[in-house]
Amino acid sequence: MTSTNDIRRSFLDYFEGQGHARVPSAPLVPHNDPTLMFVNAGMVPFKNVFTGLETRPYSTATSSQKCVRAGGKHNDLDNVGYTARHHTFFEMLGNFSFGDYFKEQAITHAWTLLTREWGIPAEKLTATVYHTDDQAFDLWKKIAGLPESRIIRIPTKDNFWAMGSDGPCGPCSEIFYDHGDHIWGGPPGSPEEDGDRFVEIWNLVFMQYLQENDVQIGELPKPSIDTGMGLERVAAVLQGVHDNYDTDTFKALIAESGALTGASTTGDNQASHRVIADHLRASGFLVADGVLPANEGRGYVLRRIMRRAMRHAHLLGAKDPLMHRMVPSLVAEMGAAYPELVRAQPLIEATLLQEETRFRQTLANGLRLLDEATQGLAEGDTLPGETAFKLYDTFGFPYDLTEDALRPRSISVDRSGFDSAMAEQKRAARAAWKGSGDKASDEVWYDIADELGGTEFTGYNGTEGEGQVVAIVKDGARVDKAGVGDAVTIITNQTPFYGESGGQMGDAGTITNDRLRAVVDDTSKPLGRLHAHHAKIDSGELSVGDTVKLSVDAVRRDAIRANHSATHLLHAALRKRLGGHVTQKGSLVAPDRLRFDFSHPSALTPQEIAAIEADVNAQIRHNEAVGTRLMTPEDAIAAGAMALFGEKYGDEVRVLSMGRGDDQHYSVELCGGTHVNATGDIAIFKIVSESAVSSGIRRIEALTGEAARQWLNARDERLKEAAAALKTSPDDVPARVLSLVEERRRLERELADAKKALALGGGGAAAPAGPEQIGGVNFVGQVLEGLDPKALRGAVDEARARIGSGVVALVAINDGRASVAVGVSDGLGLSAVDLVKTAVAVLGGQGGGGRPDMAQGGGPDGSKAGDALGAVRAALADAKAAA
Ligand code: SER
Repeated sequence: MTSTNDIRRSFLDYFEGQGHARVPSAPLVPHNDPTLMFVNAGMVPFKNVFTGLETRPYSTATSSQKCVRAGGKHNDLDNVGYTARHHTFFEMLGNFSFGDYFKEQAITHAWTLLTREWGIPAEKLTATVYHTDDQAFDLWKKIAGLPESRIIRIPTKDNFWAMGSDGPCGPCSEIFYDHGDHIWGGPPGSPEEDGDRFVEIWNLVFMQYLQENDVQIGELPKPSIDTGMGLERVAAVLQGVHDNYDTDTFKALIAESGALTGASTTGDNQASHRVIADHLRASGFLVADGVLPANEGRGYVLRRIMRRAMRHAHLLGAKDPLMHRMVPSLVAEMGAAYPELVRAQPLIEATLLQEETRFRQTLANGLRLLDEATQGLAEGDTLPGETAFKLYDTFGFPYDLTEDALRPRSISVDRSGFDSAMAEQKRAARAAWKGSGDKASDEVWYDIADELGGTEFTGYNGTEGEGQVVAIVKDGARVDKAGVGDAVTIITNQTPFYGESGGQMGDAGTITNDRLRAVVDDTSKPLGRLHAHHAKIDSGELSVGDTVKLSVDAVRRDAIRANHSATHLLHAALRKRLGGHVTQKGSLVAPDRLRFDFSHPSALTPQEIAAIEADVNAQIRHNEAVGTRLMTPEDAIAAGAMALFGEKYGDEVRVLSMGRGDDQHYSVELCGGTHVNATGDIAIFKIVSESAVSSGIRRIEALTGEAARQWLNARDERLKEAAAALKTSPDDVPARVLSLVEERRRLERELADAKKALALGGGGAAAPAGPEQIGGVNFVGQVLEGLDPKALRGAVDEARARIGSGVVALVAINDGRASVAVGVSDGLGLSAVDLVKTAVAVLGGQGGGGRPDMAQGGGPDGSKAGDALGAVRAALADAKAAA
């Protein structure tokens, strides 16, 4: 028997031998076409080569392309398991000519490979051609020698192949294999063509035209060839079986699910085993190509595929999660041809295990409700749509799962009832929201989200992507078109632009195509589901339906990523240094800085700040890869992730782990933001301020990467400027400043002494006259401009010593204010306190006091200093006269 792996290899070998470049399969998520959910044909990765937009170093190629037809236009999901040939995942073998050979060579190659290389008897083969394609008709006659009765002209779209409503297209010629008259069915074009006897195995498309909106708009630069052969179908032919599920790959996978569940693989169980085998392939390859289960877009299709298989595992009586245990068999069958499967094996297993664990919890509840609801129903009855909606709404049962679960009992589901229950729920949600007092203009987001669903975010792994414009909003209202100078909000079906949320600012960048350039300065996330690009159209114009290139400003995004990851490390460092009471109270992750608010009762000491900064930088230097996992919030918190209290999480969260801790990662947090790949990408972490936000809440502001470098650099520049001004080296600046401060203090002291000495005649030219005599008492009264009030007492003591016995009154004037001190020698019977009080009153002050021999006071009115001394003289005279 020829194995499927042999057939794939021999196809590629044949065309390589004929000069075709052997091109590896492109990933399942299309890179060049935002209108497609998954690659669904071998030619998709070559689309732009056919149209001439892109050139490659070869003009002919061959590939075995991974394809998924589930979700979107081609959706085979519901049929899988119940037919011989439907798959969600399949491989398409193809040979391509980009303006090189055309019809004749294509037919020659196909005929040679099928009948000579593979030895399929010519009488088993029939060809179809588009009804007007005489040329193809004649070529089949000439090359294959087929009788005219087995070259069938087909007038329908079946023989005119188009990639989609937009893209390359052309008439095609299909090759059918006759499985024999033991199977019911007739040749293509006959009344029995829907039977299974004649199976299309190869489609040769004569690519010639380009279409837009299903209308031919021109010719391709050169006539080209695109062929597609379903590997599973041709394997059935070459292995002498009729059913794809009886080929070696499927037999191995089905045997494994039989062994693991202990359930027979035939009879009533057959469909379940087939579903499991098929969906295992789709799930494994999708996860390997970066799709993870989610509630929007591609992730949602994956989730539906996984859950459908998991329900069948449950039907087979599997007591524990099954799918992840089948991954080794999948890898054994297909890993050699697709190494990405081997690389992703641990991720595929973990993702399946998690999804199945979760699903089994809800499945039991959902199935119970379904059983109850269908108890009274008989074959041919219909389940009310409302019940199906309740299952969806309460238990996360997708509609098709309910339909599928009832199919064996021939019970159908009322789709329109389901749709109206869904519409009613949306209406109620909207009404509730309207009452909440939000801006009414935001209603436009509800309309868009209801109609088109959420935006799929593709920016966790990159900053570039294509998208299709699904809505344009201008001045709060939807428009179909926008032109130069317009400020608009653009919604696309998918985008790499992060919408502001969780403290992380929205992305900026450009949206372009060959007719348009729009500059996006911010992206928001209305309703938490749409990514709204706020843009201004720089040139060209934009219409709903356009395909655009979305380019995030990657430098800005990198800076945001570094700041976001640093915030996680900071949070962990704060908790480790300050204690578990530290919790996040808010954050801002901008391109140029980060801000983190947290609960803590007191200001951080400089030592604490330094230690926290050092801890974060040590983690940066460990440069460990940052890990992301999808988990339920409960599992994540049980696994030690820090969650924000009061934050509303979806039923699935991203768990970010980073850094090196004692027994686990340094930081584990729930987070939907974008992060660095490894902590080393943060480069530097620098805390630039620590302050209070309110009582019990502190705020740290910090910088990373280039911003931190510039900040440190600016500091260094200031230090150099200071060093230059001080005429020293930067290292010596602190010592130099200290000595300058010291010197200044000394000089101030000396200056004060000099002033005092000068004032008291200790050496100046204007030495004062001797003491006055008042009532027989020596009296010195002087006003001293600028004398430090602290020096006043010393000056009084000195003057008194000089005159032997007597009264000294000195007034010091500084900045218009007066300070006064009075000294009285013992034995005069006079009180310095009384005397000083008279002076203070004149100076506009209050009180004054001290001891009888020395008292001090002051007042605001320095201009009255002379009068104050006069008052002291008078008081002295009065006291003496009274004595
Ligand atoms: N594109 C064609 C198909 O998908 C032939 O490869 O059938």
